[in-house]
Amino acid sequence: MPDDPEVLGWRDGRIVALDQTALPQQVRQLTIGTVDELVDAIQRLVVRGAPVLGAAGALGVALAVRQAERHGWDRDTLDAQIDRIRRARPTAVNLGAGVSAVEPLIDQGPDAVQAAALRLVHDIAEANHALGRRGAAFLRETCRTDRPLRVHTHCNTGSLACLGWGTALGVIRCLHESAHLGHVVVDETRPLLQGARLTCWELAQQGIEHYLICDGAGPFVIAQGLTDAVVVGADRIAANGDVANKIGTYALALAAAAAGIPFLVAAPESTIDPATPSGAAIPVEQRPAEEVTAILGMPVAPSRTRALNHAFDITPAELITAVVTEDRIIRWGR
Ligand code: MRU
Repeated sequence: MPDDPEVLGWRDGRIVALDQTALPQQVRQLTIGTVDELVDAIQRLVVRGAPVLGAAGALGVALAVRQAERHGWDRDTLDAQIDRIRRARPTAVNLGAGVSAVEPLIDQGPDAVQAAALRLVHDIAEANHALGRRGAAFLRETCRTDRPLRVHTHCNTGSLACLGWGTALGVIRCLHESAHLGHVVVDETRPLLQGARLTCWELAQQGIEHYLICDGAGPFVIAQGLTDAVVVGADRIAANGDVANKIGTYALALAAAAAGIPFLVAAPESTIDPATPSGAAIPVEQRPAEEVTAILGMPVAPSRTRALNHAFDITPAELITAVVTEDRIIRWGR
């Protein structure tokens, strides 16, 4: 099995990132040297996935501090630039949390900020393993079958999104390693195809058997009894257990509840946001209409067609069997 590619790192005072918009056709890295470049990379989804956004937020502060030094920015300018990073995407709580985790070290100088950011990146990657093991054990217990499990997932939650093993995909990897995985059903995840382009790429690299389906097919595949459990990640978990995740997650949760199969959310503790009381208070990112009216840049709708492009949806806690983190299993819902 090939090593995981370096998804996000720090070299010579700059961020290096695997360009996730180019996968699977090209495996290429970008060097990000300024706040402008980082904000652009986050907004274009070169760098994406909630835990990776947390890492990018922390490294972003280190980057901004180095840039401030080069350009002689005053503190107000530096704070304004850091705020642009924090606000680059609104839904994943991890981005702002990553920024806030290292921001207090600014007065101690660039080296202290850099060291704290790198520690956080390391911790984010490490959290995945414990989470994956706990989630795999939970599914084996809950599904109550001796046959290898058929697991359905949405979007991309592997090392591309999380560093390390991944969250939902980390659970799947653990099942695979212990020979308890049959195959994975992967939703394509329109509009930007993170399932088809990224999850299938990661599963293929790991030699894990998988089937790609159109997003609209998910509930039918579940109703047909072709999957034993659904496992997804999260961008923000509200204090009452409501979960924001990639658009299309809610439909899978409804289908899983109707079919009586487990619906597991796998996310690090840092994705739980006690300051957000419920899903209604989670800001849902709206992205450009062209992502829907075109596929991979090719128009598929008449030029005057308008589109709604909610990047995330909210799944109510009562549809979720459990949330698994690196520390615990939480049951808010059904
Ligand atoms: O828009 P994206 O690709 O950043 O959305 C990512 C997702 O929705 C993931 O499911 C979520 O961040 C969890 S990643 C472990």
